[in-house]
Amino acid sequence: MKIFLDTADVTEIREANDMGLIDGVTTNPSLIAKTGRPFREVVAEICSIVNGPISAETTATDARGMQAEGEELARIHPNVTVKIPMTPEGLKATRALSKKGIKTNVTLVFQPLQGLLAAKCGATFVSPFIGRLDDVSAEGMSMVRDLLRMLQNYRYPTEVIVASVRHPIHVAQAALAGAHVVTIPGKVLKQLTQHPLTDIGLAKFLEDAKKIPR
Ligand code: E4P
Repeated sequence: MKIFLDTADVTEIREANDMGLIDGVTTNPSLIAKTGRPFREVVAEICSIVNGPISAETTATDARGMQAEGEELARIHPNVTVKIPMTPEGLKATRALSKKGIKTNVTLVFQPLQGLLAAKCGATFVSPFIGRLDDVSAEGMSMVRDLLRMLQNYRYPTEVIVASVRHPIHVAQAALAGAHVVTIPGKVLKQLTQHPLTDIGLAKFLEDAKKIPR
């Protein structure tokens, strides 16, 4: 399973990238706004840090506008993946960009058929948001399982990015379901590396190592 970092914070991205675990990055307008920096500048800097797909989201709401924005974003760097909201206009833009060989990530997917339609329009990635579904008492992961099954049934090459991840259990469930990618906040990446028994075990080994005669 590929791991993308779900943030626009370049310090966090550099730190995670140094661990050698990051295969790509996803951003959205809310994450970019948090940085207080210009959109294109942040996207270009992320592309200079991580060598993998970097999702940058369009903000137009009509297909022609999304397509124009997407073409401009794709010129920033070959790794830019144009993130497009799952709307009828978004699907038109996805089709148009994919015909031009521009990578796309259809976002804000909350039910499997939305993902199937995105795949049919040639989306490179589709992003089901599981945490936001869990927040409203629906089971986010069951949507991911159904979507994976649908894409496999018809052998679509579209990759599923499990998004809106809140904790390590979501990551484990994504891996068990066979998701292609999981995109996670820096906090969850750190949590994945930790276990209290690892810390206790290491402290004991280091203490005992001091007793070994030289
Ligand atoms: C995915 O690409 C989105 O940026 C993200 O996962 C949204 O997550 P949130 O529900 O925590 O905002």
